[in-house]
Amino acid sequence: MKKIILLLIGLTASVQSFAQEVDYRVKAKKLVSQMTLEEKASLCSGETAWSTKPIARLGIPSIFMTDGPHGLRKAEGFDFTNSVPSTCFPTASALASSWNPALAQKMGEALGIESQANDVQILLGPGVNMKRSPLGGRNFEYFSEDPVLAGKIAVGFINGVQSQGVGTSMKHFAANSQETERMSNSSNVDERTLNEIYFPAFEMAVKEAQPWTVMCSYNRVNGVYASENPYLLNQILKEKWGLKGFVVSDWGAVNERPLGVDAGLHLEMPASGGFNDKKIVEAVKKGTLSEARLDEIVTDLLAITLKAKDSHKKGIVVNKEKHNELARQVSGECIVLLKNDNAILPLKSSLKKVAIIGNFAKTPRYQGAGSSQVRPTQILNAFDELKKLAKGTEFSFASGYNIEGETDEAKIAEAVQNAKNSEVAIIFAGLPDSYESEGYDRNNMDLPAGHNKLIAAVSEVNKNIVVVLLNGAAVTMPWKKGVSAIAEAYLGGQAGGGAIADVLTGKVNPSGKLSETFPMRLEDTPTAMDFPSKDGNANYGEGIYIGYRYFDKKKIEPNFPFGYGLSYTTFAYSDIKSNTASAKDSDDITISVKVKNTGKVAGKEVIQLYVHEQETEIARPENELKHFEKIALLPGEEKTVSFKLTSRDFAYFNPKVHDWAIKSGKFDILVGSSSRDLPLKQTIDIQSTKTAKVALTRESLFKEFKKAPNSQEIYGQLVQSFTGENKKPETEDEKKAALFLEAMLADMPINKFLLLSGGKFTEENLQAILKAANQN
Ligand code: BGC
Repeated sequence: MKKIILLLIGLTASVQSFAQEVDYRVKAKKLVSQMTLEEKASLCSGETAWSTKPIARLGIPSIFMTDGPHGLRKAEGFDFTNSVPSTCFPTASALASSWNPALAQKMGEALGIESQANDVQILLGPGVNMKRSPLGGRNFEYFSEDPVLAGKIAVGFINGVQSQGVGTSMKHFAANSQETERMSNSSNVDERTLNEIYFPAFEMAVKEAQPWTVMCSYNRVNGVYASENPYLLNQILKEKWGLKGFVVSDWGAVNERPLGVDAGLHLEMPASGGFNDKKIVEAVKKGTLSEARLDEIVTDLLAITLKAKDSHKKGIVVNKEKHNELARQVSGECIVLLKNDNAILPLKSSLKKVAIIGNFAKTPRYQGAGSSQVRPTQILNAFDELKKLAKGTEFSFASGYNIEGETDEAKIAEAVQNAKNSEVAIIFAGLPDSYESEGYDRNNMDLPAGHNKLIAAVSEVNKNIVVVLLNGAAVTMPWKKGVSAIAEAYLGGQAGGGAIADVLTGKVNPSGKLSETFPMRLEDTPTAMDFPSKDGNANYGEGIYIGYRYFDKKKIEPNFPFGYGLSYTTFAYSDIKSNTASAKDSDDITISVKVKNTGKVAGKEVIQLYVHEQETEIARPENELKHFEKIALLPGEEKTVSFKLTSRDFAYFNPKVHDWAIKSGKFDILVGSSSRDLPLKQTIDIQSTKTAKVALTRESLFKEFKKAPNSQEIYGQLVQSFTGENKKPETEDEKKAALFLEAMLADMPINKFLLLSGGKFTEENLQAILKAANQN
């Protein structure tokens, strides 16, 4: 009964919100019909750096947007020294390492509340681009190298913000993976790779969370600026995925504005002083842009504008302490414990003397530089927070390095001295501000020389070394073997120092998992040869093989694999079950596994499900993440976790038919705790309902005719027309010769038979065979 009531409530709410959407569209359409051409064009660009234009005579309001994504950066114009203080949450690479969409949603709700309190209608985020290389300057602002993980975290985040009546702007669409030449560079990516790797996080979020806006990227995609790319904006975002909201340009991303209107770019930001509004008017007058198209664009834009303004709540006051606490909780779930020899962590309460080393312990790096940089309401540092939590321990401090991480022998000597006199030394290292920023890419994957030297020197004198890393993306660890523990704390936001103290002392049991592969060396990465591109063309030659997809295929041992992360407890996986051993891809397929906490403390585990196709039609990654779930378990507790598979989980994108396809055959479902630790396996025989139906042409290859539905007969006819023989090979020699002939002919387009069969294969034969092969 309760379920039915909830269902009814849910249904009523969605009917109501659908009715409201329709209402805003109706109102928007009516307003557009009352506008002059100039007024319509004026709405297609902003009024200021952050707001849209109002039209007083029609009662059209202006709306305000601001960065994003992990806090509010509301300021006048482009002067950010005075942006309003707001809670600085962990940046995206940290957040994704929580593998917890519900937590992302909670964080989104808080961001929505802060937006309401500051009269902000749209928060510019989240950033869901894929990490093509660990060197990407904005990797700290992006979630993952995997589209499913990025997509699910994005859905949580967007739902959270938008539940507060504040819109989001999911960015930067599309294939925006380097900062070098970011405003002009062309990301040259094949259609399959776009659809399998660079689109799905956006797609999932559009379909499941409907961000009010999507921000197009600066770069070109296959030669065409994203801001005027009809394939990206009209075809994919609007028509294929059904985006209801509007598309806004990244700040200054517009090239030819009228082309943009036609392609589906609704709003140009920031204000361009009427420059482009005039161009739109001229284009309509000249007839190169249809007024009907402009009307559609302005209607979409207005529908969201009206909704955004209506959703504003007056009198919201932010509870800063509560949000700081939430930021600490989120950050705690993001920390990834990479190494913990001899269970050195959590720190024993019996410890008398611990050396804290490294500036970052007192002056943490907690966010990245660029447009996402917010002014925090407060900053917690790990040194002070540790002292509060571990009262019986005496902590010494040595700064260890200078701001930019240069080697400073005197500082290293002081740190070494402190470490000698302590039972444990905790070194805080990572990347200084200047190493990671919007606007440029990293030169290498290394920590500053001073940090590496410091860790090496301190681990010479003390065996109990814990390294805490504060950085936004993967780094190399030449000192890995010489230290007992490594905690990747990422850029944990303003309360990150508190979260580190929580994890080090065991108040919080770490449960983060890497959302990106940590390579051993830059040379091992798929883009090592050409990243960032500096000649205007970023050729995505590695295709679908980014991140773990590449490392797995090449059997390269990473430093730490995707999905990896330790806990203070242990988990046992067992009893994988499928509701079916053989099914159509469209059937209900449910996989369940049991996971037990086999240790002594409560903990959270991320159960990861990957799919492996046994015999592929075209090259595919070894395993691909399709589902995951984070669960909490008390010591000794066991839970069953179930995953519902969808046909998309088995599919690959076939560019020949511009659609998803599945080859019938066996698929292994692998479940475990990281991409390289998948102890459970269940094989399912899938009968495809999505076979790629590629029409055969006169240029199709001989071997492709073998796969045609009535293949045996057609294939036989082809061989016969070429050899002129109608008899089946019988002797061993005849069989060998037939096989040889088949291998030789396999890759030959059939029209070549016209030339090479000595007249035996005729145009009539070809037409007849084509007709037969393309039947049904
Ligand atoms: C960035 C966007 C940001 C915008 C507004 C651009 O330079 O690429 O991510 O939202 O500026 O600050």
